[in-house]
Amino acid sequence: MRLDVVSIFPEYLAPLDLSLIGKARRDGLLDLRVHDLRDFAHDRHRSVDDTPYGGGAGMVMKPQPWAEALAHVAGSGGEGAPEGALEGGAEGARPRLIVPGPGGVPFTQALARELAVEPWLAFACGRYEGIDERVYEYAAQDLGLEVSVVSLGDYVLNGGEVAVLAMVEAVARLLPGVIGNAESLVEESHEDGLLEYPVYTKPSSWESAPGVTRDVPSVLMSGDHARIAAWRHQQRLERTATRRPDLLHASQAAPGAPVEGALAAFDVAVASPADAPELLTLGRACWVTEGRANGSFDIPPLVESLQDVVDGLSQWQTWTVRSAGRLVGSVRGRRDPQDPSTWQVGRLMVAPDLQGRGLGRALLAHVEAAAPSDTTTCWINTGRGSERNLRTYRKAGYRAVPGEGAYPGTVDLTKKRRRASVDQG
Ligand code: ADE
Repeated sequence: MRLDVVSIFPEYLAPLDLSLIGKARRDGLLDLRVHDLRDFAHDRHRSVDDTPYGGGAGMVMKPQPWAEALAHVAGSGGEGAPEGALEGGAEGARPRLIVPGPGGVPFTQALARELAVEPWLAFACGRYEGIDERVYEYAAQDLGLEVSVVSLGDYVLNGGEVAVLAMVEAVARLLPGVIGNAESLVEESHEDGLLEYPVYTKPSSWESAPGVTRDVPSVLMSGDHARIAAWRHQQRLERTATRRPDLLHASQAAPGAPVEGALAAFDVAVASPADAPELLTLGRACWVTEGRANGSFDIPPLVESLQDVVDGLSQWQTWTVRSAGRLVGSVRGRRDPQDPSTWQVGRLMVAPDLQGRGLGRALLAHVEAAAPSDTTTCWINTGRGSERNLRTYRKAGYRAVPGEGAYPGTVDLTKKRRRASVDQG
């Protein structure tokens, strides 16, 4: 991949000589060229800024040096570019131009992945109050560049250089051969919408102060890979709910579970503790019918406390379905703590006024699609007298397990996960 960076502080980019990015450059995987904007300013002071039209504080970067610098970069596609970097031949090759700025689209892992497949990127580091707006038009219209203004986050830096360091590192590490262990690219925060699980190394018992030891969670020393995977997944959910609840939208938290069909018209999200009071209430409303059908009202959703619901959220991955803000459905799933190859499905509920529209079946499909790829069976439990539920589950491919279910008066139903969904994870 070729990268060009234009800046008034070329030395700022020196860290890109270090570590894995430096090695990638030396190995010929990255062709990084840094240009001094002042080389394209022709007055005695090599000035690149001037006062803003319309008044206001600060200075604005002048159009002429930028236009020349970008034309120089864009026109240099023919010389020294690595094999394969110039799609369509040297003549037609053009970089995609990235202008870092707080007013841009957010830089995300998804954007890093998008940029990592570009053969050539150019970065224009603005300073002061920004670059004269006509430069963006010129780059797009006269030079034919795709221009993207990209922000590192909702704060203001003094210039684009720090943002370029971050973006180049995030993009370059995705290029084949840059990171030795490709697996470590997958188990990362933001790769699948959840934050990373906590990690530990030796010693297993660390004396952090005289007489104070801190131990590694025992599950990690158990050698039981399924239990470790379940624990890590749970940690990721809890961490994401605590630190980044905004990430817990179903489409991100469960990439295997696209919101489709009957659910598409609703807002589906991963539940957080803030949903607990409504989950308790909807559960009560939905399970009264079950109580009647089974001749007992002593069933968990009818007797549990608000705290039980909150606790359930940390033990299960729970989804909520909302319509114009109102909670109208929910379902939850987890790896069976006793049998990690089984994905347990529970608390499938749809508000009474919306039942019979396929919402329950769609929710069931949604939670099934979120099952980890190494689970082989889906499991669900319902009252023996819950005819309607039993019909729905049978239609969805579940079969009753002979004998008493997990709770008195209930029946367990299981279904083998289909090969295709196992592959898709
Ligand atoms: N330049 C100044 N602030 C910035 C930000 N937040 N992201 C990218 N570039 C910037």
